Amino acid sequence: MKLFLDTASTKEIRSMWEIGILDGVTTNPTLVAKEGRRFEEVLLEICALGVPSVSAEVVATDVEGMLREGRHLRALHPSIYVKVPMTPAGLRATKILAGEGTRVNMTLVFSATQALLAAKVGAAYVSPFIGRLDDQSEVGMDLIRDIVTIYANYGFSTEVLVASVRHPVHVLEAAKLGAHIATMPYAVMEKLAQHPLTTIGLARFLQDWEKVPKG
Ligand code: G3P
Repeated sequence: MKLFLDTASTKEIRSMWEIGILDGVTTNPTLVAKEGRRFEEVLLEICALGVPSVSAEVVATDVEGMLREGRHLRALHPSIYVKVPMTPAGLRATKILAGEGTRVNMTLVFSATQALLAAKVGAAYVSPFIGRLDDQSEVGMDLIRDIVTIYANYGFSTEVLVASVRHPVHVLEAAKLGAHIATMPYAVMEKLAQHPLTTIGLARFLQDWEKVPKG
């Protein structure tokens, strides 16, 4: 399973990249706005680290605009995946961009039928937002189960990128279902490595080591 950070903070990305557990980065306009920096400058800095998959979102809502922005983003660096919203225009733009060899991440996906269409137009990734479904009293993980089943039924190569992840159990459940990727905030990725018994156990080992005769 690939683990992505859902952030535009180069500080957070560098930290996880140096540990060696990071497979990619997803950004969106909200995350980019938080950083207060130029979009392209941030993207190029992330790509320069060597991160192999960096999703950058178009903000146009018409096909021509999506194509123009998508082609521009794609040309910035070979690691860029173009994020396109799940709308009729987005489906059309994805079909064209994918046909040109651009890897598209279809975003704002909230139903299995939307995910089916994303696969049919050749998206490289589909991004179902599970946390936002949970917020609406729907079970986001049920959607992941449905998409994984549908893609397996027909042998689609589109990868399921579980987005809007809010806590480690989302990552655990997505992994059990065989989702290809989970993208998460820095705080969630940090928690994947933590356990209080690890902390207590290490402190005890170090304390006991002091009692071992040295020299
Ligand atoms: O980047 C898309 C998605 O992961 C956003 O998550 O927490 O804003 O619902 P969230």
